[in-house]
Amino acid sequence: MEASVIQPSFPVPKESSYFRDNPPPKPLDSHTKLAKVFVSYHLHSDRGVVLVTSGGTTVPLENQTVRFIDNFSAGTRGATSAEYFLEAGYAVIFLHRQFSLLPYSRHYSHSTNCFLDFMTEGQNGEVVVNPGYQQKMLGVLRKYNAARRENKLLILPFTTVTEYLWELREIATLMRPLGPKALFYLAAAVSDFFLPKDRISEHKIQSSENKEPMANGSSDAKTSGNAPPGQGKQLKIDLDPVPKFLKSLVDGWAPEGMIVSFKLETDPSLLVSKAQQALEKYSHHLVIGNLLSTRKYEVVFVAPGKEEHWIRVPVHRRIKSVTGARPDIKAMKDGQTTEQEWLRGE
Ligand code: PMT
Repeated sequence: MEASVIQPSFPVPKESSYFRDNPPPKPLDSHTKLAKVFVSYHLHSDRGVVLVTSGGTTVPLENQTVRFIDNFSAGTRGATSAEYFLEAGYAVIFLHRQFSLLPYSRHYSHSTNCFLDFMTEGQNGEVVVNPGYQQKMLGVLRKYNAARRENKLLILPFTTVTEYLWELREIATLMRPLGPKALFYLAAAVSDFFLPKDRISEHKIQSSENKEPMANGSSDAKTSGNAPPGQGKQLKIDLDPVPKFLKSLVDGWAPEGMIVSFKLETDPSLLVSKAQQALEKYSHHLVIGNLLSTRKYEVVFVAPGKEEHWIRVPVHRRIKSVTGARPDIKAMKDGQTTEQEWLRGE
């Protein structure tokens, strides 16, 4: 089935109507309770609390969702940054796309290795960590256990853009008493378009030889046979714009917090100007710009009243992924490196 996306020409809906029209996710209450306890725990300490958002939001095309549109993000930026925040002494609320990378476990999940490759059979038939991985795994395990022991890491999942926005609003509001100790680090890839609740079909959109299905909830349109000849298999998706929530975050939900947003572009000539525009529009503290193709080794910091500042991984550390050279399979088998580490240049 071929999908063509028609971009809307009507005004962006206001934030309040978005929350009125798109109900909260079922786990919101339980997540709110967990976040409340977590924030209260850290409220009177001198440590900062950072909300790290990570992973891509989905836009379901059906209520009982078979198909959805996704935003690109593996969660590497968010999960890795969360580890660095913890090391720097922050307590971290990690709001992430379900099943994307998580702090600490990211070193072993989503790897091209099967997790069983990290283990081996010990002398007495017990399962032990492959000696080649032990040193690094011990380091990761200690950091993970410390974060848990000190109650410094709260992990909460989302899937859809609506779930993400409800969670963001609740958590940001709960973090307000933290004042300037609250930091928002918005690395999640958030959809700009969505299919509103009142126009989404309940069941799987049907394909048909002679009819033109439309994911706009209008039953007439969904089943109308008015498709031009030869275009009967098209799926036309009529999406609404998602309101820009950064504005609400800065002005209403977290007026005292420090807000860092990310800007993702694919066209290098647009990156810095788009980051500057975001900063002017939302008046927050920092935009970190990155390009899809180079995001793993360079980012640009754009802050009010400052020159843009590029941070780059030195060439010798990224050369392997740039040249596309194959990893050292023998070293991987000996447990010295995983392919994922190799790709990351570790
Ligand atoms: O996870 P990885 O694979 O490591 O990839 C990391 C990353 C490339 C996803 C990450 O570094 C990144 O750039 N994340 C932001 C992606 C994004 O949503 O960019 P954007 O240009 O579409 O949005 C810019 C900002 O507007 C974001 O901070 C977002 O929170 C905000 N926004 C977006 C949509 C929306 N409806 N309201 C918003 O406020």
